Amino acid sequence: MTKNAISLFSSSGIGDLGLKANGIETIIGCELLEERMNLFHNNYPKAKCFQGDIWEQKDEIIKFYHANYTEPPFLILATPPCQGMSPNGMGKILNNYRNGLRPKMDERNRLIIPTVDIILSLQPEWVILENVPNMTNTLIVDENDKLVNLIAYIKQRLGSLYCGEPVVVDAADYGVPQHRKRLITILSRNENAKKVFFGKGRLLPDFTHSAEDTPSTRHWVTLREAIGDLPALRAEKGKNSVPGYGGLHKVPLLDEKKRFWIDHTKEGDTAFNNQCINPKCGYQGNRTHGASYDADGINKIHTDTPLYCEKCGALLPRPWVEDKKTGEKRLMKGFMSAYKRMRWDEPASTLTQNFQYACSDNKLHPDQSRVLSLYEGLVLQSIADYDYSFNIHGKLCSDGLIRDTIGESVPPRVMDFICAHIIEISK
Ligand SMILES: C[S@@+](CC[C@H](N)C(=O)[O-])C[C@H]1O[C@@H](n2cnc3c(N)ncnc32)[C@H](O)[C@@H]1O
Repeated sequence: MTKNAISLFSSSGIGDLGLKANGIETIIGCELLEERMNLFHNNYPKAKCFQGDIWEQKDEIIKFYHANYTEPPFLILATPPCQGMSPNGMGKILNNYRNGLRPKMDERNRLIIPTVDIILSLQPEWVILENVPNMTNTLIVDENDKLVNLIAYIKQRLGSLYCGEPVVVDAADYGVPQHRKRLITILSRNENAKKVFFGKGRLLPDFTHSAEDTPSTRHWVTLREAIGDLPALRAEKGKNSVPGYGGLHKVPLLDEKKRFWIDHTKEGDTAFNNQCINPKCGYQGNRTHGASYDADGINKIHTDTPLYCEKCGALLPRPWVEDKKTGEKRLMKGFMSAYKRMRWDEPASTLTQNFQYACSDNKLHPDQSRVLSLYEGLVLQSIADYDYSFNIHGKLCSDGLIRDTIGESVPPRVMDFICAHIIEISK
């Protein structure tokens, strides 16, 4: 019998590719944004699409399922948005709350409430929740206006019906050529799963890759292995794309100034540390950029990093801004991870929706003057290993939609491993 799944916060259905690879059919998708839902529909034409806010779609989803299926779903995959999960601030929120102040909460964190409503109503055999590790520290105001920890809220509402625990997983540990740490919570009401969970303490499959080769794991997949053979590109007109690769091996243009900084940036380093390129000097000892904690314990970026060679006075190819009136140049304010190259022999850094911005965290190609191409994004998120189309009615989607889809998605390879494992347990 076909196993079916409901994908909440489905976006364009990238994580669902891992389900499909294991014969699990996504029969329902729910997504707020129309263009993402359209792309989902294009790739899962048989699925029923509920486009809109899950708060408003919740009852319709439940009604539709009960009207069309007699058995509970095999799986609910819920991947709510993570932007609302702040890394800090929990202490402050709790303090304010205790002092009677109504905390300003991000409404997006409350999306777990309709999610749990759907889970409780449809009672799938398995639930997979995916979010950022900060989810464990996130507080929400529940239906009774009480401030509760999000994970505790889920456990309290699901009670003993489901077993399972949240675990922080790095996608690189499943052979994805990218470090991407996410909190994955696998829950199950299956009896075999309960035995596995109470014996092993987790329902996640064993990791397949690690920092070093071990008898049971292989070394992480590196950028060199993943994208090292792709044709070279440069963020310059006429050189920023090549034919083939579904029209996706292309990068945005960078102006001459930025290319100049990046041309002189070493692998694994930031353009803020570039050294003297005056052929008569070539001094390599100019102070590098950095940050340190001030007297109040705040980590502050240094403001005395030189923009001119400390030996010969020549302009260094470091990111600068220019005063329009005086023409005076000063070092650009920025984090050291901006204009920074990745390393060939490591997995990529986490891909976000900003992965094609040179000033975003650690996003430059290891040795070419450019960011990653959309195609490389697909490879590094493991999407290129699966069958997925970005064409709607024969027309390629916008670069922005493709970038968002990649940056927000769950790597299908991770879902693939998890689904193979839960099917094995369910047997
Ligand atoms: C992390 S992404 C999901 C990624 C997806 N599972 C994948 O692998 O491609 C979260 C999605 O939730 C959607 N979303 C945000 N608020 C929503 C809401 N209130 N109702 C339904 N979907 C929502 C966002 O538009 C976004 O596409």
